[in-house]
Amino acid sequence: MVVKVDLKDKIYKLKKEKNAVILAHYYQRPEIQEVADYVGDSLGLSQKATGINADIIVFAGVHFMAETAKILNPTRKVVLPDLNAGCSLADSCPSDTFGNFTASYPNHTVITYINCSAEIKAMSDLVCTSSNALKIVNSVPKEKPIIFAPDQNLGKYIIKQTGRDMLLWDGSCIVHEAFCINKLLELYQKNPGAVIIAHPESEEHILKTATYIGSTAGMINYVKEHSKEKFIVATEAGILHEMRKKVPGVVLIPAPIKEDNTCACSECAYMKVNTLQKLYDCLLNESPQIDVPSAIRKKALLPIKRMLELSN
Ligand code: 13P
Ligand code: SF4
Repeated sequence: MVVKVDLKDKIYKLKKEKNAVILAHYYQRPEIQEVADYVGDSLGLSQKATGINADIIVFAGVHFMAETAKILNPTRKVVLPDLNAGCSLADSCPSDTFGNFTASYPNHTVITYINCSAEIKAMSDLVCTSSNALKIVNSVPKEKPIIFAPDQNLGKYIIKQTGRDMLLWDGSCIVHEAFCINKLLELYQKNPGAVIIAHPESEEHILKTATYIGSTAGMINYVKEHSKEKFIVATEAGILHEMRKKVPGVVLIPAPIKEDNTCACSECAYMKVNTLQKLYDCLLNESPQIDVPSAIRKKALLPIKRMLELSN
């Protein structure tokens, strides 16, 4: 009798043989989240990536996340299932243009959202994620002006919350900018008891409708801690998997996007290029690997470390 070995079992076996660890973001495909040793938001993943004992880190997420793990663990092999797993925010901020921009404002403190390249982190005083952005910005003395990049929507949200003087880079997340306010309001009217929760990468008019605004981990906790029957969720749809795991039976309605979204709601094409098969292959072949030139790594490590210290 031929016994078909399940791909998940092959991954578990190989992971053990190679002393590897799998870290996954909440936007990954459900089957990837299921084989991961740890699933989290960008802050949780960076915290988890500090001082990992495994020989190989398989990063099931996008490039900037794997790069951050490599910066924190230069002696470990970090592999990403598909090198095409990029990010529109990271792409919106090329290092040469950003370097010229920051050079024009030498008195500004440079804070960058973790969704950017290692080169951009190397030019930053502080890095933040959506979980700790307010804390990181508030850690800068009040009189100090700030450059915040690359997410203008998160930047506007922080300005509103803190009243800080911040110059914003004009990047945005293609997924969070796709939500349609008119369709969202229509949906809310049809579901009057529903609670709207949103990620701060969303546009201001979407955030205005939300009862809760927070990182992916924050949104999951909010659903867990509130016994409401229905949530309208304005972020990437991969998050629904963990929400349903945490609160079985909860009613979750993905926020509608501008295009006809009968099939795929709000999926990040970058996050979704990773598949279980590619995850297995990258662990087997130990490729593609993430590398960060040492000079950039050393500079980028400083603002990441500051962020981690401030987040403790
Ligand atoms: P968080 O998981 O940190 O909230 O970030 C969301 C995101 O867009 C990651 O790319
Ligand atoms: Fe980048 Fe947006 Fe995709 Fe997150 S959801 S990886 S911010 S494009």
